[in-house]
Amino acid sequence: MKLLEDRILKDGNILGDNILKVDSFLTHQVDFKLMTEIGKVFAKTFESLGITKVVTIEASGIAPALYVAQELDVPMIFAKKHKNITMTEGILTAEVYSFTKQVTSTVSIASKFLSQNDKVLIIDDFLANGQAAKGLIDIINQAGASVEGVGIVIEKSFQDGRSLLENSGVKVTSLARIKNFENGSLNFLEADA
Ligand code: G4P
Repeated sequence: MKLLEDRILKDGNILGDNILKVDSFLTHQVDFKLMTEIGKVFAKTFESLGITKVVTIEASGIAPALYVAQELDVPMIFAKKHKNITMTEGILTAEVYSFTKQVTSTVSIASKFLSQNDKVLIIDDFLANGQAAKGLIDIINQAGASVEGVGIVIEKSFQDGRSLLENSGVKVTSLARIKNFENGSLNFLEADA
């Protein structure tokens, strides 16, 4: 997605060896015009699959996921990282290990929001090692629903996430694919959409 790649080049900042900071338009402050375009591109990519729910994980997945859900005219559900007091029964959970943060967290979705008839599209802001998406797939499978695809805004292709997901039989569509950060500059692979 050229609009997104141009924005990453203009406003993204490389931190250390492998982190891209995009807090001015995606992960902290959110550019709704860019999210609208992202929503349209993902919706077009997945429109023929009969998607009934969009699923993401808090926090930064929520913005793009909501715009995709709006375009597909289906609900968006975000997995919670902290159990809250109103989640009293019927909770589906998975353990997600973050290599970046080196912590394991339990993520959860109330079972009433997913059924075995659901065809789910997973959307997330970043794909690094794929552990967040793997946890969401686990939860969706527990509900008996099917995962029709994974849509990623920014894939760090030099990490293992994409192959982990593809090896489990899930199709991944990424709007920007970062090949590497070399000498402080950023190189893209050809994006999927
Ligand atoms: P994984 O899910 O692909 O295995 O990712 P990993 O554990 O490596 O990453 C943990 C968190 O760090 C995730 O957010 C992920 O989106 C984010 N992340 C990974 N690489 C980058 C990067 O290069 N830039 C930015 N900005 N974020 C990155 P999270 O902990 O779920 O955070 P949030 O969504 O609550 O903000």
